[in-house]
Amino acid sequence: MANPSSDDLFRQLVEGILEYAVLVLSPEGIVLTWNQGAEALMGYGKYEVLGTHFSGFYLPESIQEGLPAQELAIAEKQGRFCGESWHIRKDGSTFLASVAIAPLRNSDGVLCGFAKVTQDITVHRATEERINKLNRNLQALSAQMLHVQDLERRRIARELHDDLGQQLLALKMFVDKTKNAEAIKLADSVLVWVRNLSYLLHPPLLDEIGLRAALDWFVEGLARRSGVKIELQIRPDEFPRLGLDIETAIFRIVQEALTNVFRHSNSERATVELEKRDAQIVVRVRDYGKGIPASAAPGKNKVIGVGIAGMRERIRQLGGKLILSRCEPGTLVEANVPLPATPCQELIATSANNNSNKGDREEVEKPNVTLPGTVEKIIPATDKVPEQAQITVEGSDDLRGDVIIENTLRDVDGKSRSLKEGADVEITIEADPKDTKPKE
Ligand SMILES: Nc1ncnc2c1ncn2[C@@H]1O[C@H](COP(=O)(O)OP(=O)(O)O)[C@@H](O)[C@H]1O
Ligand SMILES: [Mg+2]
Repeated sequence: MANPSSDDLFRQLVEGILEYAVLVLSPEGIVLTWNQGAEALMGYGKYEVLGTHFSGFYLPESIQEGLPAQELAIAEKQGRFCGESWHIRKDGSTFLASVAIAPLRNSDGVLCGFAKVTQDITVHRATEERINKLNRNLQALSAQMLHVQDLERRRIARELHDDLGQQLLALKMFVDKTKNAEAIKLADSVLVWVRNLSYLLHPPLLDEIGLRAALDWFVEGLARRSGVKIELQIRPDEFPRLGLDIETAIFRIVQEALTNVFRHSNSERATVELEKRDAQIVVRVRDYGKGIPASAAPGKNKVIGVGIAGMRERIRQLGGKLILSRCEPGTLVEANVPLPATPCQELIATSANNNSNKGDREEVEKPNVTLPGTVEKIIPATDKVPEQAQITVEGSDDLRGDVIIENTLRDVDGKSRSLKEGADVEITIEADPKDTKPKE
């Protein structure tokens, strides 16, 4: 018996495929071949469908939009079409199809048809959507848990400090009266221990003064307790307040990263850099120890602690990025956190938006924004221009401007005074009275 030709073998292979509808179309889209997979997927027998136009598998609205013809045109022009579209079976039921179409050409390059491969991805897509939804739920849950954890730490910190701390202080007064040196020493150490525990749970400096003070305090304490030499660099010197959520997140990240340096790295020293660059904060914690194991990278199956996962989650919530890398020697933890737009930037962005498409918009009343600023430089008047002050608005690197000093300022007692360099001022940015919003 003669061996089958390679054409025969190929036809048998294609016809036998059950999971995919594989068909050959003429250059105009007429169905020329029909495999078992196509029959299983679409419900038509071979002889019902050969010679018909393949657009019969598409929804009427897709045909009206010209989708089947567009798919062929893209395949012909770009050498391939890949996409998803709703298809309709013989029994009228519909399914989401993944479609791949490739042009078939003869040896002269003339188009002689198309190969079309179709797969039902309805279940796959539904599963994907379910997984995405579960992921979103999980992210919301972990965000909520971190928030609750922060609130809880804050509450316990306050109770330790205010309630237990006060009671211990009262106790210490009695102990002091006993003049028993050992008891006094023990009472002192318990008091310090409780206060430290309270501050580590939630440093009051974070709320009262800001990130710089809280980090200074934490780094100094950890260096003393652990013996690790820690260098802290914060730029710019006058570090601005960033809002409690961002400050808490950054504090917790530095706290976790440095605790990891102490617990896991065997490094004798570490550096912490905190830098505000334009509209983002960059935090880098570097040690010079044994390096983070590859198993601690995300996606590895090894069960790891919650520290790194917590850092990642905090950064994700703020829309930032956390990168952990081995540095030879040591580990670098780098976090980038975008800063939310200041009221000024929002104002500028809104008025920029409002300048376009004015026809679709109606005028609205917008409040003026008053922000603290500093006089950087006084530019003296010339015969052409009046005296001006160069003013920087706090919390916004983008807002620098020259303000014309129109009137001499007067104190309450009527004495005139002029604006000085370095003076703190308040700047009111007047909203454009012609601000607009989209018409309903
Ligand atoms: N700076 C570091 N140097 C070396 N290994 C580290 C460092 N930071 C983290 N690791 C490794 O990553 C693991 C996970 O860290 P983490 O999620 O903070 O959990 P935990 O500290 O509770 O073990 C640690 O157990 C340790 O093996
Ligand atoms: Mg840890």
